[in-house]
Amino acid sequence: MPGDVYLDNAATSWPKPPGVLEAIKDFLAQAGGNTGRSGHHRSIASSRAVSLARERLADLLGVESPDELIFTKNATEGLNVAIYGLADGVAQIVTTSLEHNSVMRPLRDLEQRGRCAIEIVHADGNTGEIDVEEWTARLRAASPALAVATHASNVTGALLPIEALAAAAREAGVPLVVDASQSAGHVPLSLSALGAAAVAMPGHKGLLGPSGTGLLYFAPGVEPEPLMRGGTGSQSELEYQPGFLPDRYESGTLNAIGIAGLGAAAEYLADVGIDSVQERLTDLGRRFRDGLAGVDGLTVLGPADPADSVGIASLNVEGVPCATTARLLDDEWGVMTRAGLHCSPAAHRSLGTAPEGTVRFSWGNDTSDADIDVAIEAVRTIAARERSAEPLGTVA
Ligand SMILES: Cc1ncc(COP(=O)(O)O)c(C=O)c1O
Repeated sequence: MPGDVYLDNAATSWPKPPGVLEAIKDFLAQAGGNTGRSGHHRSIASSRAVSLARERLADLLGVESPDELIFTKNATEGLNVAIYGLADGVAQIVTTSLEHNSVMRPLRDLEQRGRCAIEIVHADGNTGEIDVEEWTARLRAASPALAVATHASNVTGALLPIEALAAAAREAGVPLVVDASQSAGHVPLSLSALGAAAVAMPGHKGLLGPSGTGLLYFAPGVEPEPLMRGGTGSQSELEYQPGFLPDRYESGTLNAIGIAGLGAAAEYLADVGIDSVQERLTDLGRRFRDGLAGVDGLTVLGPADPADSVGIASLNVEGVPCATTARLLDDEWGVMTRAGLHCSPAAHRSLGTAPEGTVRFSWGNDTSDADIDVAIEAVRTIAARERSAEPLGTVA
């Protein structure tokens, strides 16, 4: 009987803290009105739940003023608002080959429409690292420009030296958009101190909130055009979008139910401490890598020291398509992973794993040592079977 080992936290985290479920239930039972729209007590209770969530998240993410945090439906929405808004009047956009399609597709769209050129700093084929000197040189040579970089690769988990990349962008006078999708909730962040123009992240991955939630931060004074305009419940007499935060970017009814859950997740993370989450993820990474050391026919990608990454590892068993490995893991051991290109084809090209991709394992603070041990045993068994008399490579 297969088990139930969830190692797909990089797609969306599971389980959510119990407080998230409680907050969602409470919101529906006790509040339930539209936020910031009406003067009755259910609307006021809903607005309070959203404000409380914003305050908790601002605290957790080192944002000086909670209103600088904009609620979105996912990381993709925040990245699109930031990229399309800040690309106005820009000739070049400098980025890395590690970007997710939520960055690459808007960039390629801008390029295709002839609005700007895209310059890609390629990750090293062996280490997956981005060369800060090359990044700096490209930024210095580009003008007027925009820069976009992920904080952590969603394929290997490798953390990029985001402070150094941000410092280089500042020095070159180039606004930087950071994709914190795989680092938020896993690595301590201080958005106000980072010096990036914008940072986008999902609420449903490391921040442990429900799906349908995300966050976008703009540094003070960075106020690109919004992508959407509409009702905000504020300044209703105006037929023009309010200019103040967060309303400038929050048109239409908010996902207040999800946001209430995300607020509870932020409270949970503040209690546990993101330092302690990072330590736990690193320990699990060491356990995983050590457990697979010396297995014949196995390639594990990413930093050798899990302290240089978030809770992700990608691998391939020689001779076995990654989709077959993932299917066997789930069918026989109940180990849930994600196979393929992970919406990051350029990253796989850089790492030499395109067009097929890899099997990605991603753990969370609630993953147990025993879960990791089941995954190790399963991978070892698959690799051994492939090298036995009846190889698995042809299993459909
Ligand atoms: C690095 C990275 N950026 C962006 C995204 C998009 O996140 P969302 O699905 O919340 O839009 C993901 C999701 O997997 C990701 O890993």
